[in-house]
Amino acid sequence: MFLKALKGEEVSRPPVWMMRQAGRYLPDFMKLKAKYDFFTRCRTPELAAEITVMPIHQIGPDAAILFSDILVIPQAMGIDVEMRPDFGPYVPNPIRTPQMVADIPQNDAKVELQYVYDAIKVTKQMLNDEVPLIGFAGSPWTIMCYAVEGRGSKTFDKAKGFCFQYPEAAHVLLQKITDITIDYLKEKVKAGVDAIQVFDSWGGLLSPADYNKFSKPYIDQITGAIKDISPVIVFGKGCWYALDDYSKTGVSALGVDWTLNPKMARQLAGDKVTLQGNFDPARLLSPIPEIKSMVKEMIDGFGVNRYIANLGHGILPHIPVDHAKAFVDAVKEYKK
Ligand code: CP3
Repeated sequence: MFLKALKGEEVSRPPVWMMRQAGRYLPDFMKLKAKYDFFTRCRTPELAAEITVMPIHQIGPDAAILFSDILVIPQAMGIDVEMRPDFGPYVPNPIRTPQMVADIPQNDAKVELQYVYDAIKVTKQMLNDEVPLIGFAGSPWTIMCYAVEGRGSKTFDKAKGFCFQYPEAAHVLLQKITDITIDYLKEKVKAGVDAIQVFDSWGGLLSPADYNKFSKPYIDQITGAIKDISPVIVFGKGCWYALDDYSKTGVSALGVDWTLNPKMARQLAGDKVTLQGNFDPARLLSPIPEIKSMVKEMIDGFGVNRYIANLGHGILPHIPVDHAKAFVDAVKEYKK
């Protein structure tokens, strides 16, 4: 059903999954989290597979997303990234000069990220074709945000500053990230993922003009390289202004956040592309009956076809499991 919606084929109800559904809020995940640090969970195929499959059995979405992180790419490029408990990503030596960009080695995604492809193979076996598996990468701009800023940020002004002070070096860095990301995603498809999502979580921090310089062209390269071997979903948070242009790049679907309504999203994206979104993740804190009526309203707005029900960004860590399940159930129960 998920793959049909990506192809634009008719479905009886929209498929549903939730961004960041693997981990974060599930009690069984918290148990594993207490035992193994973050990148151990990512690098151990059996653990990554177990976490990926958890929400499928406990919540029942129509697609699985591999447990991993977008930051395995800078690691593969030789940039150290730590995941500090209660802090998030931390880069001890962030990229701050053009020389540091020039010094980044051209590592091979095939070699560096073998553990991801192994995790995909184990996960596919565990899923037993019950639901398709989504593989993902961060957009080059979003990866650059962490590589330059060195940590999470509300504004990522050091990363933006790098683009504006050293545009040439910024483009070299973005191209290096793009090249390894394309190799990585090709290997993920070979290993068995059924669709690819590119997360441009910090795209919306750029003005439309800067977005067209520093983010979109690199995502378009990725789409161009992958679209003939796998459907591609592009989620640009805060990038409503790019929906129209993206609809012409060969993507199968475009993610939308909750700052626009279904009608606006459809008007911007046109009717030839599938849309995915856009329930406010914090709205999962509402009482269950309200979640259910809001989901119905959302589907009424987007329509059943060319639509994948999802949140407008990742699920929050403090969402009660029964509320997450109510969201998924509401989509499955949908009747006009
Ligand atoms: O459904 C899933 O959870 C699949 C796996 C997944 C993770 N990260 C696991 C994770 C995915 C798809 C991501 C993507 C990711 N990682 C993004 C893009 C999506 C988005 O939410 O915008 C970004 C920006 C990151 C970078 C990142 N990783 C941050 C900022 C953090 C800390 C804050 C947090 O909890 O999200 C992480 C850590 C991380 N990645 C966790 C998980 C389950 C939580 C830490 C832990 O489990 O120890």
